[in-house]
Amino acid sequence: MDTPSPLTHHTPAAGTVLGRLDALADGSATMGELPAPDALTHKPFRYLLLRSGDTVKAYENRCAHFGVPLAARQDLLIFQPHASISCNVHYARYRWSDGVCESGDCVGEALPAIAVQLDAQGNICMVGDGPAP
Ligand code: FES
Repeated sequence: MDTPSPLTHHTPAAGTVLGRLDALADGSATMGELPAPDALTHKPFRYLLLRSGDTVKAYENRCAHFGVPLAARQDLLIFQPHASISCNVHYARYRWSDGVCESGDCVGEALPAIAVQLDAQGNICMVGDGPAP
């Protein structure tokens, strides 16, 4: 009997809109998710948007420790505005500015960064396909 292949992560294309700047409060960390076109073979694309002023950092919502989302729901997401965001499984703490783990079981590893830019309408758009390798 064949072993089913594991699901791979959906990687949206460049230009995909992940959110709007005016929907994010300054200092907020927000979870988002885009469904995979084929849920049988791909996991949804889960991401985090962190706003500081008019700057938005985007990371894939995948802990460097065990590869799981940092939180199961938005209200469970642990963060210190403009400073850090933490996984609520084993509490790895990642720097806001670059996603690098500075405390916990995966120190020195990082959340996969997603390059984004704001368009003229205030949409947060992906620059490349998926997170940086
Ligand atoms: S799974 Fe995130 S810290 Fe262990």
